[in-house]
Amino acid sequence: MNIDILLGLQWGDEGKGKIVDALTPDYDIVARFQGGPNAGHTIEFNGVKHVLHLIPSGIFHDGKINIIGNGLVIDPVVFRHEVESLSLDIGVVRERLLISLKAHLILPTHKLLDAAQEASLGESKIGSTLRGIGPAYTDKAARSGVRVGDLFRKDFREIYRARVEGHLRMLAGFGLSNDLKELEEEWFGAVEYLRQFRTVNADYHIDMSLREGRRVLAEGAQGTMLDIDFGTYPFVTSSNTVAAGACTGLGIAPARTGEVFGIFKAYCTRVGSGPFPTELDDADGQMMRERGNEFGSTTGRPRRCGWLDLPALKYAIMVNGVTRLFMMKADVLSGFSEIKVCRSYTVGGMEVTELPYCLNDIEEINYRSMPGWQGDIRGCRKWEELPPELRDYIEYVEKETGVPVTIVSVGPDRSATVYRQ
Ligand code: GDP
Ligand code: IMO
Ligand code: MG
Repeated sequence: MNIDILLGLQWGDEGKGKIVDALTPDYDIVARFQGGPNAGHTIEFNGVKHVLHLIPSGIFHDGKINIIGNGLVIDPVVFRHEVESLSLDIGVVRERLLISLKAHLILPTHKLLDAAQEASLGESKIGSTLRGIGPAYTDKAARSGVRVGDLFRKDFREIYRARVEGHLRMLAGFGLSNDLKELEEEWFGAVEYLRQFRTVNADYHIDMSLREGRRVLAEGAQGTMLDIDFGTYPFVTSSNTVAAGACTGLGIAPARTGEVFGIFKAYCTRVGSGPFPTELDDADGQMMRERGNEFGSTTGRPRRCGWLDLPALKYAIMVNGVTRLFMMKADVLSGFSEIKVCRSYTVGGMEVTELPYCLNDIEEINYRSMPGWQGDIRGCRKWEELPPELRDYIEYVEKETGVPVTIVSVGPDRSATVYRQ
């Protein structure tokens, strides 16, 4: 058996949570491979909305295992809050969830450092979610991280203290002196809570599961344009959000990867700072934000909106090896008389279809205009029921990218999904 990978092709919030949940019945295991509580994955069914940050999006399905992989950074406080606010009994969550011993922990001081670093950047701030992600991954790379497996060591408190002393010295460098008493009480309480959950050598577990013929779906967080290597650096997150990240974030050999499902919105959004070539600062952008309810699932910040960017989408397809595309939020574009798609950029007076090294070098966006579609399409369940203009739009994307669009999402609910072979 090979492992299928599902990931975002844009700047995050493409609708990964919805589709992972919808596809879970086809799998035995859902495994998150990177990121942390910066993610906000929304799932809607039976009229109720659930937002997950650390827990994989297969958690609502009976009989399925959800794995938090080694590639994640876990904040025990967020984890506790998330489990406690789930509509599931804790016993059920314990049964369905496995946590990698090699996943890293976000310490209270990581969050303080995230805030201090952002504040020091002034105008050029990243727009981080302030969840401590960057500092936690910094410690991982610097070989000074604290891992879930360390929770079970007798000298855990000493390991913790040594790291925090280092962080306090860094915070002093920012002119900050922090009283950690309350934060630490909350954190250690949450650590005790976390200890009740099942931990595992996720790499061995996944290997064994694949050998036994079980089907595994790897769930990405963020999106390709936020990848630490391939995104709009430095306005990115601190992990590899691309397909290769599933290998390092779960312990899977590249030869064992199967399908790569690439999720994209019918338009584009971005939350936080950094270049966004097709961003609209006009009534169309406003309409997308309102109709698409484009406000961050984690921070509530309004998302920047713009037309679909084909050069960026093709780039994401290339670096991920996408085998199937899923178009999300097609319903949000209903009502526009005209739909625009960026087909190329002008850089240095020349028309280019490749992403330039620096997206700020883009002088002009060259759009193709297509007729829009009208009416409420949320009830559509079959390809033939979609308006012909939307089908033309999708077929244009397929032609340009060379990858089939096999799912079209027409609403936030689990059921508002058009499957196409
Ligand atoms: P994720 O981070 O990729 O899981 O995406 P988010 O959950 O952060 O953001 C996607 C938002 O769009 C959520 O509020 C979803 O409920 C919603 N959503 C997902 N698919 C659709 C869709 O096809 N149509 C509409 N209108 N909303 C959708
Ligand atoms: P999901 O999984 C959208 C953005 C932040 C910021 C940058 C760095 O829900 O798609 P970080 O806190 O990671 O250091 O922030 O990345 N960002 C996201 N944007 N969706 C996400 O996750 C994001 N996670 C981080 O807004 O610009
Ligand atoms: Mg999100």
